[in-house]
Amino acid sequence: MKMIFIRLVSLGVLSILMSSPVLAALDLANGKTIDQQKCYACHAKKTGFSNGDMIYTRSDGKVKSLADLKKMVGLCNTELRLDLFPEDEADVVAYLNQQFYKFKP
Ligand code: HEC
Repeated sequence: MKMIFIRLVSLGVLSILMSSPVLAALDLANGKTIDQQKCYACHAKKTGFSNGDMIYTRSDGKVKSLADLKKMVGLCNTELRLDLFPEDEADVVAYLNQQFYKFKP
């Protein structure tokens, strides 16, 4: 009886972990494609550097943490009505962090 109880509990914990967005598989390649298709050109134009990556590495950037990064990506997404799905937004955040910002999760 006790064993069954423990099994059920660990199954429950497992399914909570599996459905948590933190552990959901992030698709960095998808994030990169989205950045190139939807974000790069405007950032290149706005910064005047003709390089859309430089907005992520500028020294006076506004993004100082992973939370800031999520906020900015969300802001650009909703303000500009880019219509990214939440999963896509998470992929872009993961890609930008891995490629440029390198914040610890
Ligand atoms: C139509 C123009 C435009 C598009 C499209 C756009 N952005 Fe932006 N983005 C901006 C501007 C302008 C800023 C600078 C805002 C500021 O300095 O206050 C910015 C800043 C950012 C920053 C902060 C950079 C830093 O370190 O300071 C991030 C991150 C970002 N954008 C992500 C994205 C992502 C991801 C997408 C595509 C899904 C996207 N943006 C699409 C205009 C755009």
